[in-house]
Amino acid sequence: MPRFHIQTFGCQMNVHDSRRIEEVLYERGYQAASGPESADLIVLNTCSVREKADHKLLSMVGTFRDLKEQNHDLVIAVAGCMAQQQGEALLDRLDLVDVVIGPDNIPDLPGLVQHVQDGGPPVARTVFDLDSPSFLTARVRPGQREVSAFVTVMKGCDERCTYCIVPYTRGAERYRAADEIVAECATLCAGGVREITLLGQTVNSWHEPSEPSASESRFPELLRRIARELPQLLRLRYTSPHPRHVTSALVQAHAELDMLPAHVHLPLQSGSDRILRLMLRRYRSADYLARARALMSARPGFTLSTDMIVGFPGETETDFQDTLALVREVGFCAVFAFKYSPRPHTPALRLGDDICEELKSERLARLFELVDELQSKHLQSLVGSTAEVLVEGPSKTNAARWTGRSERHEIVHVDLSAAHEPSGTRDLRDYAGELLRVRVIEANKRSLLAVPMGTMPQPARRLPARKQVVRLPLMSP
Ligand code: 5AD
Ligand code: SF4
Repeated sequence: MPRFHIQTFGCQMNVHDSRRIEEVLYERGYQAASGPESADLIVLNTCSVREKADHKLLSMVGTFRDLKEQNHDLVIAVAGCMAQQQGEALLDRLDLVDVVIGPDNIPDLPGLVQHVQDGGPPVARTVFDLDSPSFLTARVRPGQREVSAFVTVMKGCDERCTYCIVPYTRGAERYRAADEIVAECATLCAGGVREITLLGQTVNSWHEPSEPSASESRFPELLRRIARELPQLLRLRYTSPHPRHVTSALVQAHAELDMLPAHVHLPLQSGSDRILRLMLRRYRSADYLARARALMSARPGFTLSTDMIVGFPGETETDFQDTLALVREVGFCAVFAFKYSPRPHTPALRLGDDICEELKSERLARLFELVDELQSKHLQSLVGSTAEVLVEGPSKTNAARWTGRSERHEIVHVDLSAAHEPSGTRDLRDYAGELLRVRVIEANKRSLLAVPMGTMPQPARRLPARKQVVRLPLMSP
């Protein structure tokens, strides 16, 4: 039986794509290899959002040269955004690569591998499925316990933020029908999944594929439908939303649906209106703040995390100060911050890359310092409070502990060393997928330590809130 090894770089979308690649390969009789050394097929699922990823791929492919020399039948495939971005050119650049496959062509992978194994030349397939988009579906593997799963609701991006290569590598927006989305969620729930994360480049712009793209997002209706039809689901998340599609209806859904956690990851990118305009983010800092506040008012303790870019072309100290001020004002619980990296095919290339590496590093360090301060204050403030933890699995470092996420998305380690069965024997239950009510006893740098207050296999559902949430004004791009 042929064996594969997949190496994944980049975002959750890629993690999800790697799962789909695995599924396609399993279906064709492949087995997972224990590592690249024992594989007949190595798939590198790449990211090209920042330049670093490019370098990573080059050095990673290089490390397989010896393996390829020892085993002439070994096939190396490059998938993901970099494959889509460079296509055939990648075959010319990297002599060790046999197959280049775009994100929309994953089902073709086994056939292309076969073509190479049959003596065919290296091959690239990077065609977008614009006319009849397909969305590979996820399944729970027989015999495996999966607490969390991803479900794609849309792919591609029409936003054209000036720094971003994604519209180029993932193509135009394509939407998936609600019936298909709900059916996939139902299959996952039946397989034991307790948490589903809806995925899309601008996930909250979702509408039915039959509706025109200019129509208002129907995302809140999709959330309500999933919550209604799958009450057994414990958590429904989504990533990544665009601030301009955070509507009053979405905020209202957060206020009413218990299944939605009290946390959203809402990319901001910069706190300076001047830079936001140059980035073509289509909102001002005040618009973002209004949306952040509306979401935070939907639930007690609601937290927000975000993505930021420092050192965008022309970013002055004043612009950066605006960023720091907004980060402090919103009080993000976590920030993923990156140095601006010029990418091919992006409009921002015209603006140059005038912020030197040292200044980018310095600003990044100052931003992280502020984020550390906010994060540690936030975690400290939770000591003594209660939380609901969806357990993902046993702790990697302590046999008596289980690790999961709170409803606000903090990482929580639950200490069960004092837990005993009624008979007095040690508690050996598998808590993965359980929702535990806990009391927080300690705050660490990036996580919380808690003790259980009893097992809650399923939370009581709250009645829909009557409260009318904040009415959000329209955005002024
Ligand atoms: N340079 C730096 N960071 C980038 N991101 C996207 N493009 C770039 C770029 N050219 C960041 C954004 C986005 C996250 C996924 O990656 O913050 O939200
Ligand atoms: Fe890139 Fe902007 Fe689209 Fe996000 S919304 S994928 S940053 S173009």
